[in-house]
Amino acid sequence: MQEFSEPVELTPLRIGVAGLGNVGATLVRILQKDGVELTRKLGRQIEVTAVCARSRSRDRKIDLSGVTWFDDPVALAKSDDIDLFVELIGGEDGPALAAVKAALEIGRPVVTANKALLARHGVALARLAEEAGTQLGFEAAVAGGIPVIKTLREGLGSASIARVYGIMNGTCNYILTRMGNEGISFAECLKDAQALGYAEADPTFDVEGYDTAHKLAILASLCFGCEIAPDEIFVEGITRISQADIKVAGDLGYKIKLLGLARRSADGIEQRVHPTLVPKSSAIAGVDGVLNAVALETDHVHELLLAGPGAGGPPTASSVLSDILDIARGTKVPPLGVPSAELTPYVQAPMREHEGGYYIRLNLKDVPGALAAIASRMGERGISLESVIQRPDLRVTDPAADNTQTRTVVLLTQSTMEATVRETLAQIALDGFIVGEPQLIRIETL
Ligand SMILES: NC(=O)c1ccc[n+]([C@@H]2O[C@H](COP(=O)([O-])OP(=O)(O)OC[C@H]3O[C@@H](n4cnc5c(N)ncnc54)[C@H](OP(=O)(O)O)[C@@H]3O)[C@@H](O)[C@H]2O)c1
Repeated sequence: MQEFSEPVELTPLRIGVAGLGNVGATLVRILQKDGVELTRKLGRQIEVTAVCARSRSRDRKIDLSGVTWFDDPVALAKSDDIDLFVELIGGEDGPALAAVKAALEIGRPVVTANKALLARHGVALARLAEEAGTQLGFEAAVAGGIPVIKTLREGLGSASIARVYGIMNGTCNYILTRMGNEGISFAECLKDAQALGYAEADPTFDVEGYDTAHKLAILASLCFGCEIAPDEIFVEGITRISQADIKVAGDLGYKIKLLGLARRSADGIEQRVHPTLVPKSSAIAGVDGVLNAVALETDHVHELLLAGPGAGGPPTASSVLSDILDIARGTKVPPLGVPSAELTPYVQAPMREHEGGYYIRLNLKDVPGALAAIASRMGERGISLESVIQRPDLRVTDPAADNTQTRTVVLLTQSTMEATVRETLAQIALDGFIVGEPQLIRIETL
């Protein structure tokens, strides 16, 4: 019989952890609690030998006796007392970047959960790691506890990916789920999310879609072998989603989710983050609350949906640990799936070329012929309408309306070009039959 148990190597793998917040302190706790089991699995002990954070006096509920404390993360990254550096400080520049660079420059492997850092400097850091012949792990940077990076780098073999999409921000998913289930407003849900610790005091980064865009940019690079381009993504957040939108979408068989989507098209790579109408029958529509999910459409395995907790100390630390174990086992993969020199320059497919169905909510002036005029403008541009919905109980008042009497009307179009929809809406605004900005939500067939 084959013997699988490895002889235990005498020298432990020495880990330096910079950042002892939510994720860092949880990681240290797990390493200490599960030490025996990890040694059995790895055949080698993993030991946290050095740490770094801002405050020495903060009680982090972890045992730091015998662990060297550093005030400077760069000094920790370069210290001779560690074999692997873990960055859990956060931020796209500053100490996180300086420390990760310092470790890689001396050929020391790095594990990080920092999506902002990866989105901004991922290609340069991958190049640095390759030049130094070392490893850079960032499983926790996208969708927290879901092993999507490993799936893309190692699990899918030669499969070619046509499209990737997902729910990658737990805060937005929590808010949209509660708006749908309980009929409460965006503002109320956000307040609860903040009270429960799911949303930051300043939620802009999450609710405006930028956090999802960072993660999407990293995924798109791994899926399509292109450079990471976080600034070349069409981004719309969820702050304009009203109860009327949720209810009308629901009646029509859809849920509204904040999706990040990337696909290869004839014009380049299309990357977009926006609220999306998804059929209630789709698998992703069932991913509710703070959960995340990433769907990969490939030629060999068709659609693969990975769902699970996208944030939180234990799930995120578990992904960090999975990278540590891989590096300790000697797994060697280019950080971005292919050597950085082979990444293709990013070519953005123009959003105006996007084609799909649209949900359009308008505040129509209550004058005779207004709806007919709008339908006629749509017809002139070849836009076919699938439904026209007027529900007096779902009136959305626009601040621009003043004393003008308006009706809320929702139009659902069949598949059409984004540019055509925008031009038609601009013409409708010029005709003077609507008040305020139309609400435009893309429909995705999944
Ligand atoms: N939290 C999640 O659910 C989650 C999920 C996925 C990815 N991530 C990523 O994981 C990383 C860490 O997130 P977190 O939630 O654990 O953050 P956090 O709770 O804010 O912890 C940050 C830690 O970094 C330390 N720190 C800040 N500036 C420092 C400096 N200049 N020098 C040394 N230490 C410094 C802080 O020290 P003090 O404690 O002394 O203030 C704190 O311990 C981020 O990149 C985040 O995007 C987090």
